[in-house]
Amino acid sequence: MAVIDIAPYAPVGEEGAAFAKLALNRMSQGMSGSTILRIAGEINAMQAEGRDICNLTVGDFDPDQFGIPASFRDDIIAALQAGETNYPPAVGLPATRAAVAAMYERELGLKYPVDSVIMGSGARPPIYATAALVLEPGDKVLYGTPSWNNHHYVIINRCEAVTVEADRSTDFLLTGEMIADKLDGVRLLALNSPLNPTGTAYSAEQLTGICDVVLAENARREAVGERPVMVMYDQVYWMLTFGETQHITPVHVRPAMAKYTIFVDAISKSFAATGLRIGWGVVPPALSGAYKALIGHMGAWAPRPGQVATAKLLLSHEAISSYHADMKAGVEARLMALHDGFSAMGRDGLPVSSIAPQGAIYLSVNFGVQGRSCRGRSFQSDEDLRSFLLDEAGFGVVPFTAFGIGRDTGWVRLSIGAVSLQDIDRGLARIREALSELV
Ligand SMILES: Cc1ncc(COP(=O)(O)O)c(C=O)c1O
Repeated sequence: MAVIDIAPYAPVGEEGAAFAKLALNRMSQGMSGSTILRIAGEINAMQAEGRDICNLTVGDFDPDQFGIPASFRDDIIAALQAGETNYPPAVGLPATRAAVAAMYERELGLKYPVDSVIMGSGARPPIYATAALVLEPGDKVLYGTPSWNNHHYVIINRCEAVTVEADRSTDFLLTGEMIADKLDGVRLLALNSPLNPTGTAYSAEQLTGICDVVLAENARREAVGERPVMVMYDQVYWMLTFGETQHITPVHVRPAMAKYTIFVDAISKSFAATGLRIGWGVVPPALSGAYKALIGHMGAWAPRPGQVATAKLLLSHEAISSYHADMKAGVEARLMALHDGFSAMGRDGLPVSSIAPQGAIYLSVNFGVQGRSCRGRSFQSDEDLRSFLLDEAGFGVVPFTAFGIGRDTGWVRLSIGAVSLQDIDRGLARIREALSELV
């Protein structure tokens, strides 16, 4: 067969860029790649050169550190061997949807009809479908910063962002007061708890304040026939909470929120199963027909063998809790090692502090180095800080500027899924040594 090399026909370089400008719509030209993945690429290159790096960048797991439950892996293999390889129903296997509904009732105390549960390939398609379900182009989406990917999603959905910057005083979370005067024209409020990137989680008080503002606004709107504010509640980390922290949702604090709340969830984080692509949305019953049609036509379905195994996993409280006895302990030990390490540096006079871990796989750390310098490098921006930590201390972090915060705050995210306690100890020692030369 003669091979047709496309090189002469499909331009690259400057000519390719000029063509792309004509061919692509405004939305796709406005999209930018993931800052986190760019930083991770830089780290991979350094590791390939043999550098010892404590890589706390990507929100993923190294299977050598955190594997999926062994029985779950065996069930996926068994499902494949049993020939579960054809299309799943577009909205998910009935048994998997039923298992999610049963788990929500058993573990979260929320009773939803099975028809409200719609499976997708991870949490991302349900996020996309939620936006597609309620937003018209140009509609306003309200979200707090820092937060994960909302600033990209408003572009994909051709929406207008209304952002509220949160700070340490509220654990980087929103309150009713913070959003009360921002709801004008807003159609979707995007919330996430435990929060990526901060590792903090909504308290009942904070969430109640938010829900009361939303309920009052929706009562006003519905009285005049206006479209309501819907709430997307992304709870992909809900099983990963620590210490006193208890996961809580809008429907727990104000059951009337059930009408307006769309949950987004997945096994990706709770079972270190990011590559298996199994997630779901849970929608108010009145919206499930439209949601099913959307996900069905998007074709972003969860792979069938994984769905078969997920049904079994989620039905078993025992399987979940025995896995989490180890997995959550491993996550918490790493987060606490970092938090304790930075707290000790703070006590020794170094300008660093962190927020005690509440949930997810993240720790928020602040470096108060703006305007200072170290080893001949000055800190003018969070990018200066990030590259210093990587080059001088082999410590890979992601600044909050990658999470929609438009200014330098000295706050960074540490993500622990790919490191060992030994990696953390060595990384902390290198940071302490480097920062001791701060002037
Ligand atoms: C808050 C949040 N939601 C959703 C996702 C995406 O999950 P999935 O990999 O299941 O698409 C992530 C991934 O980092 C996340 O942090």
